[in-house]
Amino acid sequence: MTLELRPLSDAIGAEVLSVDLASPLGDGVIADIRAAWLDHNILLFRDVDWTPAQHVAFTRRLGGLHIMPGLAHETSTNHPDYPEIMVVSNVKRNGVPIGLRRAGWGWHSDGEDKRLPNMGSLLHALKVPPGQGDTAFANTTKAYEALDPAICARIEGKLGRFSRVERHNHNYPDLPPLTEEEKAGRPDVWHPVTRTHPETGRTALYIGRWAVEIEGVPKAEGEALIEDLTQHAVKPEFTYTHRWRKGDAILWDNRCTQHCALPFDDEAYERHMQRTTLEGDTPFYEAPGGARIESYVP
Ligand code: OGA
Ligand code: MN
Repeated sequence: MTLELRPLSDAIGAEVLSVDLASPLGDGVIADIRAAWLDHNILLFRDVDWTPAQHVAFTRRLGGLHIMPGLAHETSTNHPDYPEIMVVSNVKRNGVPIGLRRAGWGWHSDGEDKRLPNMGSLLHALKVPPGQGDTAFANTTKAYEALDPAICARIEGKLGRFSRVERHNHNYPDLPPLTEEEKAGRPDVWHPVTRTHPETGRTALYIGRWAVEIEGVPKAEGEALIEDLTQHAVKPEFTYTHRWRKGDAILWDNRCTQHCALPFDDEAYERHMQRTTLEGDTPFYEAPGGARIESYVP
């Protein structure tokens, strides 16, 4: 069977029209979904009505699952019965938050601050505010391919330092600061800022809101360069903004995309989403001549 697909935009993404994710799926369909995912970077499925167990079981067909580590002193943001599900939500029950509020309000890819960034993520919308709460997605393969050659020469084959410790308070101002123990558990990691996709072989720009420094570039200049690269990657020609409907599920590839939750009025409205996360492997960059660099933790 070939999947019936409809592009979401010229930049990125396709909607899968012919699959009900809640139904039993054969290996052939899973292989088709994976191929379409690699082609389009993000896939949208509409009207998905499934249990957390089905959400987890489907994701597992695509790879091993990553369990989001909780930060010790706050309530866990994982589903109480399914730790493989991270709850992205501003909903409170009995005054207690049931998920992570303001998750991803800023351009990033999931796990970019970890030694093993996440391969993919599958976010399912259970409750969405009317007319807001969108998520934007950027195609970082296209962004890489359109880089100014002079900028590309400055970053090609270089590593960048991604730091939870330095950026935590900035990216999550509503969360408590990290404890010393948490800091020790989330060491800085150097990732290739031009990254070879392990399945397609294509190069993507790999930068995001946890990146703080580029190898060989003075700190302040590197910060400005990271900002310029981010602005470049999120130009309209590389991005698609999704207006969620209840039941939408989006599967994205963190190796060749970035995404950003667009801030909404979270005092007035509830937004409730559940995410499964696919474990990734060590990012690397393979130069056309064959030289290879990969991520490391000093
Ligand atoms: C995420 C994330 C954005 C959103 O779940 O990884 O960044 O719009 N979410 O909820
Ligand atoms: Mn995210």
